[in-house]
Amino acid sequence: MRVLKHLFDNNRAWAEGISRSDPEFFQKLARQQAPSYLWIGCSDSRVPANQIVGLLPGEMFVHRNIANVVESTDLNCLSVLQFAVDVLKVQHVIVCGHYGCAGIRAALRGEQFGLVDDWLRFVSRVRQKHAASLDVVSDEAARADRLCELNVIEQVMNVCQTNTCRAAWTRGQTLTTHGWIYGIQDGLLRDLSITVKEFGGVQDAYQRALSALVPGPTRMETL
Ligand code: CO
Repeated sequence: MRVLKHLFDNNRAWAEGISRSDPEFFQKLARQQAPSYLWIGCSDSRVPANQIVGLLPGEMFVHRNIANVVESTDLNCLSVLQFAVDVLKVQHVIVCGHYGCAGIRAALRGEQFGLVDDWLRFVSRVRQKHAASLDVVSDEAARADRLCELNVIEQVMNVCQTNTCRAAWTRGQTLTTHGWIYGIQDGLLRDLSITVKEFGGVQDAYQRALSALVPGPTRMETL
């Protein structure tokens, strides 16, 4: 008997469903991919990139890691970004975090889980950088959600600072970066207002996004 048979059964039903509505779907995709979006999100199983924005295979290039981190030393993430921008010519790079992120919470609390602690040091730096605005949020869950938001904003900044994005903007390529956050409690996305269309707009967008957050309750609390 095939191991994990139910997953193969699911797959067959899924592929047949798509082929029923578009018999040429997989043959067309096999020839080429031309996605308009690069999604950089968390690995969390509750945040499936294509599903939550209703996109089909072929429509979004995806990179996921714990706590949706974009780091200048991460060859994996930088390679995905470079290929997406330079070769696939995506028009939008979306960094999407989510409320209730265990990685963010671990970084906030300084919890120890093993090797992942080293990865989460990138988030700890965000926590330290924004200690003043985090400390005014008294409720711990709300503070974690605020760090989820701040982390998205900082990771969008990291995207904008990459050689890949700067070079694309310099040569006049159409490229917009976005920072979003997903509510696993309601399935909805929120825009954190850090939308950047040119390198010259990076700092303004950063300040605008931060001032939309600080001070006051997190967006979760205002829902
Ligand atoms: Co997460």
